[in-house]
Amino acid sequence: MRTVDRLRLNALLHDEDTKFLLEHPRSHALYQRACRSMQGGVPMLWMIRWAGTFPIFGKEAHGAHFTDLDGHSYIDFCLGDTGAMTGHSPKATLETIKAQAGRGITYMLPTEDAIWVGEELQRRFGLPFWQFTLTATDANRFALRMARHITDRPKILVFNYCYHGSVDETFMTLDEEGTPRPRRGNIGPPINPVETTKVIEFNDIPALETSLSAKDVAVVLAEPVMTNIGIIHPEPGFLQALREITRQTGTLLILDETHTLCAGPGGYTQKHDLRPDFLTCGKSLAGGIPAGVYGFSQEVADTFWAKLEIDQSDVGGIGGTLAGNALSIAAMRATLEHVLTPAMYDRCEKLADRYEMGIKQAIKELDLPWIVTRLGLRVEYWFRQTPPRNGGEANAAIDSELDRFMHLWALNRGILMTPFHNMALIAADTSEADVDHHTITFRDALQALIG
Ligand SMILES: Cc1ncc(COP(=O)(O)O)c(C=O)c1O
Repeated sequence: MRTVDRLRLNALLHDEDTKFLLEHPRSHALYQRACRSMQGGVPMLWMIRWAGTFPIFGKEAHGAHFTDLDGHSYIDFCLGDTGAMTGHSPKATLETIKAQAGRGITYMLPTEDAIWVGEELQRRFGLPFWQFTLTATDANRFALRMARHITDRPKILVFNYCYHGSVDETFMTLDEEGTPRPRRGNIGPPINPVETTKVIEFNDIPALETSLSAKDVAVVLAEPVMTNIGIIHPEPGFLQALREITRQTGTLLILDETHTLCAGPGGYTQKHDLRPDFLTCGKSLAGGIPAGVYGFSQEVADTFWAKLEIDQSDVGGIGGTLAGNALSIAAMRATLEHVLTPAMYDRCEKLADRYEMGIKQAIKELDLPWIVTRLGLRVEYWFRQTPPRNGGEANAAIDSELDRFMHLWALNRGILMTPFHNMALIAADTSEADVDHHTITFRDALQALIG
């Protein structure tokens, strides 16, 4: 099998940086201006991590495409890192947003749409009670609080290299010796997460048994398939073991479906008939309007209610003035009713098949030791020969230089990939021509790399 020549890679990266700079003069000028009013020249810190030497400035986005202020058009496989999995501004959501905005945006009162959404979430995910937030981060934070309140246990457990949003206590990893440590880059933690959080590898049943046997863990927070260090599937029996061991030890289980909603209309949970105590989700649920949800079982609801001081509930650490606002809820109803439908998933799955097949063929033809993993509408290539079993293995396979080259090569040819991954997401209006353009561009990148 062929390997990538690092000198060649460096030279190619240099050429791509030059091309990027030459072709984005307006974004460059705006970035320089932005640096004078926003730290790092971006509205949110992580936006400095795009593959170019500065971010491109967006102009408009429709469906699976957008344009930048330099006049380039792009096929969007990033889709706001899942926030726009519906495609940008889907028609039904957009019309509802316009109508609802004319009737008021936030009144701090329930609307009838909220009941419709609650009932739909019951149907999709199988949990009876639902609450609304503005982000998936908050959904996770509030579910964690409820779990601690119910169990009176101090700790949580997460999997190595998970990501569940900016939830303080989740930023834990295992070092090379397997010792739990705060994750690198953890900014100003309120307390050392070693004190709050146990961390083990995904797919490690013995470690799970040992960690939960002390009965000091309130809740396990997990994606049913890891997606944020790349797609890592559970091995056969792992999710069943996770459910059994949590039940045996009186530990609650939160499944975070924020990304795995790409597996089907009811996420991985519905598809595989999983029975978590809590389920959290966000990002695409309202077509890009901020919205998150968390649902829980009858048993959780009853125990929580019995321990709740209703007259103090506004200062209990679960809240958000704008949470459950009329606009987010109306957008969620329209998106669930008309956009994230079984028909949409069927159509996009076929395109994801085409995307997957295209990149697999190119990898095979050019004889590189890379593989492709897949979850529903999400497809990802890896610079390793076997699928990783866990976050530690996945992290070891990261090749930042090669990542940056693949992303920048694609960007310079009108394709936006999800940052921090080699992942593509298919949207409702991605076309076969979009997928084929990506396949050709990807194959050309590989050809350039091996010379
Ligand atoms: C699995 C998962 N959960 C939660 C979140 C948090 O989403 P948000 O940043 O919208 O709060 C993310 C963000 O990437 C995520 O990947």
